[in-house]
Formats: sequence, structure tokens, C-alpha cells
Amino acid sequence: MEPDKTLNDTTATATVTDTAPTEFEKNQKRYQDTIAKLHHQKGWRPKENLIEFGGFWWQQHLLEGLLHAQENFKARPEDFLVCIFPKTGTTWLKALTYAIVDRSRYDDSSNPLLKRNPHEFVPYVEIDFPFFPQVDVIKDKGNTLFATHIPYGLLPESITNSGCKMVYIWRDPKDTFTSMWTFLHKERSQDGPVADLDEAFDLYCKGMSMYGPYLDHVLGYWKAYEENPKRIMFLKYEEMRANPVPYVKRLAEFMGYGFTADEEENTVVEKVVNLCSFETLKNLEANKGEKDREDRPAVYANSAYFRKAKVGDWQNYLTPEMAARIDGLMEDKFKGTGLLQHDK
Ligand code: A3P
Repeated sequence: MEPDKTLNDTTATATVTDTAPTEFEKNQKRYQDTIAKLHHQKGWRPKENLIEFGGFWWQQHLLEGLLHAQENFKARPEDFLVCIFPKTGTTWLKALTYAIVDRSRYDDSSNPLLKRNPHEFVPYVEIDFPFFPQVDVIKDKGNTLFATHIPYGLLPESITNSGCKMVYIWRDPKDTFTSMWTFLHKERSQDGPVADLDEAFDLYCKGMSMYGPYLDHVLGYWKAYEENPKRIMFLKYEEMRANPVPYVKRLAEFMGYGFTADEEENTVVEKVVNLCSFETLKNLEANKGEKDREDRPAVYANSAYFRKAKVGDWQNYLTPEMAARIDGLMEDKFKGTGLLQHDK
């Protein structure tokens, strides 16, 4: 997730492009007029609003990006989408899908993932597409990989109609919250400090977080997966973290880039898994300290995307009562859906 609030600042945009207005800029005022009429509510920072649209909560710039993507994003059947709620494994899946698709172009030491952050290779539909049409990966018609945090029911029609495939990954809501709250502290934000843990947790449980409610986000993709399992692959972070190789093999196959017997014999699957592992990526120069992505401005340093990747780290943040509250919400929401039994 890359909630770049500066994107919405016309001065910042002008210094980036400094040319004729982009398609997005031509329409931005219209989006803002639409958004001004929606329900706004205080978000996780004193000067940040969350806006209700389509049953989900949005930050202003992400909602402008969504409206633009809904009107203009043209998915093709050959495209592949990483669909995901923030902090549930976006960076990992971006790295994996890129490493899978481009594996024949690079040897072990020349893979671009070793030099740059995975977010530079798989652009967001509602962020890079509207706000950064000038970056190479958006201009490159040969690129077929995209990512999005958009809930299933609000995806641009071209995505649902094109037949392109998607992968969705979800994660224990307690770790997802912990990951999000700690991540937001690393944002170079001008909207004031992040709400304290109790307040942020209460908002999260009420569904009020960017792209929330989280459980509805998961459920939307789960139902779409059940209706069409050939089109959507459904993964669980904890399962994949414990044993990535079989999932990565299946992911490659699902994407149409299955590993050959020769590749398997030559441990190419393990190499892809290792290249994209938390431990490898976190320790690269590109993902350390205050290094920023190279392709465009961002409000997070690359290192912000790599914290602990530890299943159950919520225990260092949440009380047993908080855990029981969210577990109860999850059980109610997912009761009878088969989701809690699904471990593939
Ligand atoms: P933690 O905050 O629990 O450490 P996202 O990529 O959707 O923003 O999610 C970030 C979470 O995924 C963070 O979790 C981060 O540490 C973890 N993560 C980042 N890269 C990963 C990788 N290659 N494998 C597994 N987890 C990873």
C-alpha cells in the first residue's frame, strides 16, 4: 500500500510532470466534486478523513484514483492482478508474480528485484495508473502485472469483464491491524500523528480503516473465488509463510507460467522463493534505511514494507480482550462461508 497524500497536492504533481495535464488531472475536479458530497468521518490521524463509498472507507486521494480507474483502466485478458487488502502480503506477492513471469530474462544475480523495491515492478491500478502515468511500468504495454487494494465489487468493469486472472491473499485480522498501525507510524505524513492503539483498533473493528472493513474485503473476494475458482486464486498468508514452495508452484501454474520439470529439477522454484523471501528482500541495500523507490515520489521509505513478517506478532500489541473482539467479529462474518476451513 502506498497512500501518497502528496499525490493529491497539485504543486507536487506539477513538479513531477511539468507538462500538459494528465487524463487524471483533467478530471480531478469532477472527482473531487463527487467526493465532497459523500459521508466524511475523522480517520486515524487528526487531519485525515475517511470517506464512505460503495460500502468501504477511502482516503481522499485513493478515492479519486478509484473513480479515475473505474472510468479509464482497461484490463486485457492476459493481465494478471494481485488483489489484496493493505498489509496482508502485497510486497511479497508483487515480488513473486514478477519473479515468476520474468524468470527466464535474468540469472540469479541480475534480477532487478535485487536492486529495487518490488513495488516498482507491479503498479497499482488506483494509484500508479491515475497519478503516475509517466513511470515506465505504466507506459510499458508489455507489462501484464498489476496490483490493487480495491474491494472486489468496486473493481473497474474492464477487470471483471476481461476475464483476466487474479490472486487474493488474506491474513489474520489481528496481525493485519498490527502491521497497519505500525506501518502508518513510518509514513511521512502531514496529517498529524497516528491515533493511539486503542482508538485505531476501535476504528478498525468498526471497519473504518483505508479500504475497510477488512473482513468485508476478504469476503467479497472469497465469494468471487467460490463462483469462479478458475479465475481467482485464494491464499492465506500464514499457510504460505509456513511452507511457500507448493503455493508458489501453484501460483505459477495458475498464472500460466508453470515451472517445467527441468526447472523443478534445477531448484528454480526454491530460487524464486528465496529471492522473494522476507529475509532476502529486507536485507537488500535497496530496502534499507531511508532509501526511496527510484521511479516516483513516495511517502514511505522502502524499508517500511519490511517489518517482522512474524505470524502472531499481534500478541505484542493487543490484549486478550482486543483479540477476542476481533476473533468474534471474524467468526460472525465468516460463519457458514467455508472460509475458515479453506487452507489452500
Ligand atoms: P509485518 O508488519 O507483520 O512485519 P504489505 O506488503 O501488504 O504492505 O504487507 C506488509 C507485511 O508483509 C509486513 O508484515 C511485512 O513485514 C510483510 N512482508 C513484507 N515482505 C514480505 C515477504 N517477502 N514475505 C513475507 N512477508 C513479507
